[in-house]
Amino acid sequence: MYRIGQGFDLHRLVEGRALILGGIKISHSKGLLGHSDADVLIHAIIDSFLGALCLGDIGQLFPDTDEKYKDADSMNLLRIVLSKVKEEGYEIVNIDSTIQAQEPKLMPHIISIRQNLAKNMYIDLNQISVKAKTYEKQDSIGHGEAIAVYCNTLLKKSSV
Ligand code: CDP
Ligand code: ZN
Repeated sequence: MYRIGQGFDLHRLVEGRALILGGIKISHSKGLLGHSDADVLIHAIIDSFLGALCLGDIGQLFPDTDEKYKDADSMNLLRIVLSKVKEEGYEIVNIDSTIQAQEPKLMPHIISIRQNLAKNMYIDLNQISVKAKTYEKQDSIGHGEAIAVYCNTLLKKSSV
């Protein structure tokens, strides 16, 4: 009836790239490096869905060696994975995520990120939680060299 999944992702923060989290562009001196748009939050959400249903991981579905996914909009990848979740007969109960970022300050952006994710996944705002934490200036995240995200998702079998 219920399936729980967890997802994790990390991308390097570098100059000359846009910072996109949950499909929202955030003004910052650096952005996340990756083959796609490097939306680390969406990637962790995707892996939590795939994990819940034992469907592998994001790299298996969308290989970063495939030119097709170069600069891909991660929201499109999320839509594809969500349609798989529905095909398997499941729906989202709730998603809870934590962004680990020393900077920028994310609190002012959290509501737009949640609204954008809720809209694109056809769920209510209270089904998607996004939290932010610094790394207390420790390690690569704390030195502003990377952003990581942990995500847990609960799915339930849709009633027919
Ligand atoms: O106080 P504690 O160690 O639990 O958390 P922190 O990492 O010092 O972050 C304090 C608060 O700042 C968090 O609860 C978030 O609301 C906010 N925060 C943020 O807006 N943007 C970040 N990149 C990190 C944290
Ligand atoms: Zn990623």
